[in-house]
Amino acid sequence: MKIVVILPTYNERENIKEMLPLLEEKIFPQIKNHDMQILVVDDNSPDGTSIEVRNFMKKWKNIDLLSGDKNGLGAAYVRGMKHAMGKMKAGAVMEFDSDFQHDPQDIPRLVDALDLGADYVIGSRYVKGGSIPKEWGIDRKFLSVFGSLFTRIVWLNFQIHDMTSGFKLTKTEFLKKIDLDNLISNNFAYKMQILHDVVKKEAKVVEVPIAFLEREKGASKISKKDQFESLYVVLRLAVYDHKRFVKFLIVGGTGFLIQYVVLYLSVSANLEQFVGAGLSAEAAILSNFFLNNIWTFNDTKEVKEKGNIFARLIKFNTASLGAIGIQTLSIYIAVKLLGEKISILGHAVHTSFIVLLPTIVLLVIPLNYFIYNKLIWKTQYLKKKQI
Ligand code: GDD
Ligand code: MN
Repeated sequence: MKIVVILPTYNERENIKEMLPLLEEKIFPQIKNHDMQILVVDDNSPDGTSIEVRNFMKKWKNIDLLSGDKNGLGAAYVRGMKHAMGKMKAGAVMEFDSDFQHDPQDIPRLVDALDLGADYVIGSRYVKGGSIPKEWGIDRKFLSVFGSLFTRIVWLNFQIHDMTSGFKLTKTEFLKKIDLDNLISNNFAYKMQILHDVVKKEAKVVEVPIAFLEREKGASKISKKDQFESLYVVLRLAVYDHKRFVKFLIVGGTGFLIQYVVLYLSVSANLEQFVGAGLSAEAAILSNFFLNNIWTFNDTKEVKEKGNIFARLIKFNTASLGAIGIQTLSIYIAVKLLGEKISILGHAVHTSFIVLLPTIVLLVIPLNYFIYNKLIWKTQYLKKKQI
């Protein structure tokens, strides 16, 4: 297979001068069964990185150089990947830092993983045998660990340990399925999205342990902004994946507000409190129904074919009564078990106040969502959309 190692460079003259001969003389000869190529993507580095690359190109014919304007690391990789897949006809591409923070000695092990059947290999710092520099301060260590942990939790993906590694080997068959022209970030956060999209395409992901080394020469280009952007990209993709659920939560939140407003108005109008409670609950139910109907579930056959909306509304109302039943029962059981009041930090608090929130989050929300999808708007009849 033709494997193109993409080396993005911005002011890496000192590093690239050592990296290219090392790859050619020591590393590639260890990989016998593949056609190894190098593609340096340099953004017109002012330090003259490209001069060094051009020099080596005279000696080694498997080196290619793409020069361009500086538009960020993601943009550089996208350019490189397209060139590798198109002109160079690569079967796989490697993302590899040019600054020796990724150890070139690890390259053959990533290639081995590919040979053993992986589609997407991650050089991973957070599996057994992987590491980050000991010299790093506690804040840097924390940021790095936190970045991966945050992503794993938000994406509910606990199979992958290193979510932010920049050392990857990807079969182009999968890369071709990704919309590289519309990545959210042009910068370091591009890698979160490629990882996300490749996983969605059901690529076989394998993590190979690597030691991420300390930089000896040149300077890092990553900034605070990149860190925030990465968090944004992770959240944005999660919202995208769970669009319907996010809409459902927003509608539910609106219903909650409406319930309070109507209750307040009823009490102000001197209605009996229990009448106000009933009115406000029904107002919330109606608002939830219509908003979900025209927004959260507007793509279902039920809505499009304008099936009997009243029948649906009655079903919805019944399901809402079910939710009230669950809350009542849960509080009833809690009071039986724990008593009328629970002591929190020395204060006696009504048990219902404490139990209501977990009941809503753990029981009512999941159950309602399930019922809306399965019984009321029947999303199971929708074709599964691919990204
Ligand atoms: N062409 C180009 N254009 N190259 C760039 C640019 C750019 O705008 N920005 C950075 N690079 C190159 C650098 O020259 C280096 O070879 C590589 O990309 C990595 O950049 P560094 O600036 O050294 O990144 P880092 O070491 O701080 O970040 C590392 O950790 C991140 C988080 O774990 C890298 O491994 C990242 O890939 C990783 O995401
Ligand atoms: Mn680096």
